[in-house]
Amino acid sequence: MKRRTCWKFELILILKVVHLSQQINYEFELEDESIYTNCSGVPPGTLNIDGLFDLTNYSTTMTQDGILVSGNMTSVFNAQPSDRIELTGSLLYFDRGVWQPTTLNMMVRDFCAVMYDKKQLWYSDWSAHVTNRDVIKKNCIKVHGTLFLIETYHLKIGFGSGIPLITGRYSIRVQVFAVDRKGKKRPRDVCYEVKGNFYKA
Ligand SMILES: *[C@@H]1O[C@H](CO)[C@@H](O)[C@H](O)[C@H]1NC(C)=O
Ligand SMILES: *[C@@H]1O[C@H](CO)[C@@H](O)[C@H](O)[C@H]1NC(C)=O
Ligand SMILES: *[C@@H]1O[C@H](CO)[C@@H](O)[C@H](O)[C@H]1NC(C)=O
Repeated sequence: MKRRTCWKFELILILKVVHLSQQINYEFELEDESIYTNCSGVPPGTLNIDGLFDLTNYSTTMTQDGILVSGNMTSVFNAQPSDRIELTGSLLYFDRGVWQPTTLNMMVRDFCAVMYDKKQLWYSDWSAHVTNRDVIKKNCIKVHGTLFLIETYHLKIGFGSGIPLITGRYSIRVQVFAVDRKGKKRPRDVCYEVKGNFYKA
């Protein structure tokens, strides 16, 4: 089963919110092999995951030890090196046919400044495995065509939450913006969702 994805990345962003205390352990199981879905209700001009990375050479494969991640991602985001990259994550819950917001939301004001910060929850499962660190620290997702070299590794999603999550269907919505020097958001921002279920581990 082949999956092309960097969904781990966005999941971890959300996990930062629920990391507050590690009392209940959850696993996130993806709903669909296609991983990324388009956001609904976004302004015209908003792009999906393909506006962020070219994932042609990136794949994930389900194995008994978790998900095997390998390949490269190429940044195609509409940004300039002097921009600030702002990122928001929100968890939606599917309730009686409608996607409802939850209290789990977060905003990363300057993603590139903290991408390799070991204290960030995405570090051990994502950025630690982006091996061309010197280039990425400099370019981040702000230079079109930058190759993110990912070492092959096993991914196992699990996390602790102090907030009990209702069993059911969730969507992690991630939005990425490039903000120019004047504080103006650039067009062609990205929004995508990853749908799945949280289970008690
Ligand atoms: C998602 O959006 C892309 C780009 O706008 C479009 O090509 C694609 O058909 C959409 N997918 C679905 C399932 O709506
Ligand atoms: C994918 O890999 C091939 C072969 O190494 C390379 O020619 C191509 O440029 C890569 N594409 C992207 C988007 O990284
Ligand atoms: C991408 O990664 C693969 C290994 O996963 C490597 O063989 C290849 O040379 C890399 N570069 C490009 C441009 O695809």
